[in-house]
Amino acid sequence: MSKIQAISMENLKGTIDKQLLTGKDIFIGRNGSGKTTRLQALQMSMLGYVPGNGKRAVDNYKFSSDDNEMSVGLELEDFKFSRTFERSTKMTKGVSNVTISESITVSPCWPSPSPA
Ligand SMILES: Nc1ncnc2c1ncn2[C@@H]1O[C@H](COP(=O)(O)OP(=O)(O)O)[C@@H](O)[C@H]1O
Ligand SMILES: [Mg+2]
Repeated sequence: MSKIQAISMENLKGTIDKQLLTGKDIFIGRNGSGKTTRLQALQMSMLGYVPGNGKRAVDNYKFSSDDNEMSVGLELEDFKFSRTFERSTKMTKGVSNVTISESITVSPCWPSPSPA
């Protein structure tokens, strides 16, 4: 089984960070330091949504601290993936419509482990 090595987040509630993990991790910090944010990044990465917050891309985007883009992702031993949420505004008949789109990027972590 591949272990989660890191949780990455960009523009998630004001956080741009990659949280490295050991496999036995405890988050300690003052209020507002980002403990819950890290867990929300993990949920959004694995499930595609944060339980209790709605499942649509627009619901995820409520966590964004940027007007254009937010992303979350995980690094495992042999691959990493990230979900990127992008906000765009289109004018249709003089009315502006905001759309949030989601894309997923998966890439191998190099060097990948050699077979036993
Ligand atoms: N949309 C947002 N944009 C920027 N910062 C945000 C946003 N939503 C929440 N925050 C900030 O995130 C912090 C809360 O982080 P959180 O991970 O919940 O902290 P805790 O360590 O207490 O669990 C607060 O400082 C709050 O101001
Ligand atoms: Mg908290």
